[in-house]
Amino acid sequence: MKIAASIVLAATAAILSTPASAQFAKPEDAVKYRQSVMTVMSTHFGRIGAMANGKAPYDAKAAIDNAQIVAAMAKLPWPGFSADTEKVSVQNRAKPEVWSNAAKFKEDGDHLVSETGKLLAAAQTNSLDNLKTAFASTGKACKSCHDDFRKEAK
Ligand code: HEC
Repeated sequence: MKIAASIVLAATAAILSTPASAQFAKPEDAVKYRQSVMTVMSTHFGRIGAMANGKAPYDAKAAIDNAQIVAAMAKLPWPGFSADTEKVSVQNRAKPEVWSNAAKFKEDGDHLVSETGKLLAAAQTNSLDNLKTAFASTGKACKSCHDDFRKEAK
């Protein structure tokens, strides 16, 4: 939790200290950043999933801690999909539609932010049933964007 919180702080500080036009020094850095955020978000979302799917015991406090991280992370990846990363040479799985259908991509990102806000609110009710429902609907938000905008893994 402490480490994750400091990642969020570092990420926020990085956003605040650079102009919107050039949030990253190099396009490669932007790709690394967005993938790292997705990885951290996925790790903590997976911990909630384990509880929702009965693979880990339900722990209301752990659910809230993880949901806080997921909700914070959901706000971060999007500047990492800057236009200068479309033709970047480093390995990545963003489809060209991220840029050719940018309005839908942004809508899907905003949808994730709202779903993860609801996930946190559900965790805070201390109800496993509420957590399960919100986990499933947040998972749909991940999947729907991945279906449209992320290439299959090789
Ligand atoms: C608005 C679109 C969108 C949403 C919503 C979204 N993702 Fe992603 N995700 C992407 C794209 C595009 C990539 C590929 C990025 C790349 O390779 O640079 C990606 C990559 C990933 C990766 C691989 C990261 C890596 O190291 O290469 C993971 C894991 C992931 N997403 C998990 C999630 C989870 C979990 C959620 C929901 C909680 C989610 N994503 C929601 C678009 C999205």
